[in-house]
Amino acid sequence: MFRRILLWVSENHYLNNKLPKMGFVKRARSKFMPGETLEEALQAASELEKQDTSTVFTLLGENVEDLDESRGVVDHYKTVLREVRNRNLTSEISLKLTQIGVDLGSGIASDNLREILELAQRLNLFVWIDIEGSYYTDTTIDIYKGVAGKYSNVGICLQAYLYRTTDDIQGMLALNPSIRLVKGAYLESEEIAFPQKKDVDRNYLKLADELLVARRRNEVRAVFATHDSKIIDQIMNTIVLHEDLNLGDLEIHMLYGISKHVQESLLQSGVKVAVLIAYGSSWFPWYMRRLAERPANLWFLLSRMLAG
Ligand code: FDA
Repeated sequence: MFRRILLWVSENHYLNNKLPKMGFVKRARSKFMPGETLEEALQAASELEKQDTSTVFTLLGENVEDLDESRGVVDHYKTVLREVRNRNLTSEISLKLTQIGVDLGSGIASDNLREILELAQRLNLFVWIDIEGSYYTDTTIDIYKGVAGKYSNVGICLQAYLYRTTDDIQGMLALNPSIRLVKGAYLESEEIAFPQKKDVDRNYLKLADELLVARRRNEVRAVFATHDSKIIDQIMNTIVLHEDLNLGDLEIHMLYGISKHVQESLLQSGVKVAVLIAYGSSWFPWYMRRLAERPANLWFLLSRMLAG
């Protein structure tokens, strides 16, 4: 119930305009973001690299319905790629197709994506495609499949809460894909997604096993984007059971500001860890999805309100 209310707020236009302007909401934002600007994100990445942690940059914002605005996002990501290269960072980027014009036509988003991938390929950098609400799943997978044949520096995020994901993974293995597995952050109906968290967790582990089998055959780059230490432990246990994989092959991605202690212990075990740094002024829906993931986060928000 708590999760559903927060996810409803994240999609409500009136609250999306009002709440982000309130001081206590702005103050609470710092829990998950180093700042709104690219420069703040780049500086946070430099600090994390000193601790052997790689980063993934994501400009917040979704459902861009204006062509010029979507072109602005493309130009912005090209600037990010050049900055990453100029500063010798190991960072990747992660973008949403609704930021680069998919609501204006899948051809527009696909062309915009190719432009970003072209530069990323020249700079030897990697681009992730986020996965959004289920309305966009087919289009996102089609666009990914359309570019994955030509570019090897692109990956897609898939959600363990969707029943379809096991088929989606099998359907793209021939492309030697890069897949970042998440649990899923949107409000979905039980016709298409597991309503119970325990079932999502169980499916995550099943999909992780399938990805590790494919990884052993060098058919996939598998990244596990989760803060769930029980799931991570089980994935690590599976890896140590197999002689042809070691913990250095494991890639875990987490969100900035979350589960730092888990990141440290993973680094000590030799696991590759990357932190996704989100920035930008359109942070509210993304921020509400983060609150929905953990009830304790709401208390953090309230404590910022009481702190004045
Ligand atoms: P779970 O929610 O079970 O949390 C496990 C534990 O992690 C919690 O008990 C808590 O300790 C900690 N934790 C998790 N979330 C927290 C939070 N917000 N604040 C504080 N602690 C928290 N989703 C999507 O639909 N499309 C996408 O493209 C992406 N992309 C993406 C990239 C990366 C790098 C990450 C880490 C996540 C995403 N997600 C996503 C979000 C994902 O679907 C999921 O909602 C969150 O990762 C939370 O799920 P966990 O796997 O962490 O487990």
